[in-house]
Amino acid sequence: MIPLRHPAREKFFHCVEKMLGFFHGVENPGRTQARLRAVRAPPATAMKIGIDLISFHTPSYYLDLRTLAEKRGVDPDKFVIGIGQERMAVVPPDQDIVTLAANAALPIVEKAGRENIELLIFATESGVDQSKAAACFCHRLLGLPAACRCIEVKEACYGATASLRMAAAMVAARPHTRALILAADIARYDLASPGEPTQGAGAVAMLVATRPRVLALDPETGFYTEDIMDFWRPNYREEAFVDGKYSTRMYLTTLIEAWNSYKAASGRGLADHAHYCFHLPFTKIARKSFERLCKADGIELPPKPEIERLLDAGLLYNRQTGNTYAACVYESLCSLLDNAPAALDDQRLGLFSYGSGCMAEFFSGIVQRGHREHLFTDQHRAQLDTRVPVTYRQYEDIFNYGVPKDGADHVFAPYRGGPFRLAGIKDHKRRYEAK
Ligand code: CAA
Repeated sequence: MIPLRHPAREKFFHCVEKMLGFFHGVENPGRTQARLRAVRAPPATAMKIGIDLISFHTPSYYLDLRTLAEKRGVDPDKFVIGIGQERMAVVPPDQDIVTLAANAALPIVEKAGRENIELLIFATESGVDQSKAAACFCHRLLGLPAACRCIEVKEACYGATASLRMAAAMVAARPHTRALILAADIARYDLASPGEPTQGAGAVAMLVATRPRVLALDPETGFYTEDIMDFWRPNYREEAFVDGKYSTRMYLTTLIEAWNSYKAASGRGLADHAHYCFHLPFTKIARKSFERLCKADGIELPPKPEIERLLDAGLLYNRQTGNTYAACVYESLCSLLDNAPAALDDQRLGLFSYGSGCMAEFFSGIVQRGHREHLFTDQHRAQLDTRVPVTYRQYEDIFNYGVPKDGADHVFAPYRGGPFRLAGIKDHKRRYEAK
């Protein structure tokens, strides 16, 4: 038996504590709240873990919200200015969350290789199967190693953030390994409902590793949960139910809960972050969120140009795609990294993730020196620049098309899109293919 103070035993407990620290956002999760307040950023020598590469993908079709506004008899400014959305991604029948995510991840595995990827987590609330994880489909499409754990994670739009923390914990325990996080969703509300202009679709893939080339995560985070019904989608529905005003109120309330907890864990304040990325069901909420943070801290709102500097680069992509649920805050991160007004090297970013139901987390990370060389900026911009507009009629046809639910075999015509597509359904099995 190993004696109580044996070095092997101490080393083991040290490892476990370090790993739990990534989940709990404190160095030693067993201590009291008073201890929490004393925790500061880790020493510069601590192992860096975070986002090594990040890539974003959205469908090749979109509906202009001015077209939708005209059809609904609404002033287009309500959508473009009032909620801050310009276009919504439209998903053709041969794309789904699996293909969107695999399309987002392919540039990453082609650049970074596939070896030592021991964990593949797929975060989504638009699952295609009640049993099989969407990660298993992507595992084959991406040609990942057989020694890789594949799972699907759900908590509305928060799933990718939980996945990121779990991946970081695994990498802390096994520093030679890497994890791939996929976040993909298709946001659907009833036609002509208040939620309709906030629909969208897209995916983000993130490689998590030690010595990350893009963003090193700070270990301190603040999180908050409460059992509420602000937005949900029962298994028998394709479209979400949402209490729009209540969900917005809860988003902003839980932002402050998570922020206060993050501040207690990190000792940081608003001035310690060079930019902010928020979960963006619609981009106007970023400004509301920042105003709420200033109010909570008793800080006067900065002048408009400073607010724009802090937020706007992180809103560009989401304005063009609409809500991408689990991928949202990471799409905003891509947008900021690709379009920042000045160099981000060594800058600390503040990020807020919200999932209805609800879960909220405020966390931060430091952009790594030289990160620009490792971004997929040109691909992201080219994708958005070459999308094809659909008419209102085409949008409604695609919305109503849906995958048949009668169990019959089906073949999908090829549409524009990334390298992977859903070719059809045969014997109740989805058949994905590379183009
Ligand atoms: N010109 C400019 N602005 C205008 C305007 C015009 N002609 N007409 C209206 N506006 C402004 C309004 O003043 C309002 O601005 P403020 O919020 O700053 O006051 C804004 O446009 C929206 O107007 P309404 O509140 O009247 O809009 P609405 O009743 O149609 O609902 C919504 C808006 C609640 C966001 C709705 O789109 C919705 O339900 N969306 C889905 C739910 C959602 O996104 N919730 C967010 C939090 S939950 C979450 O984050 C999880 C998730 O991803 C779903």
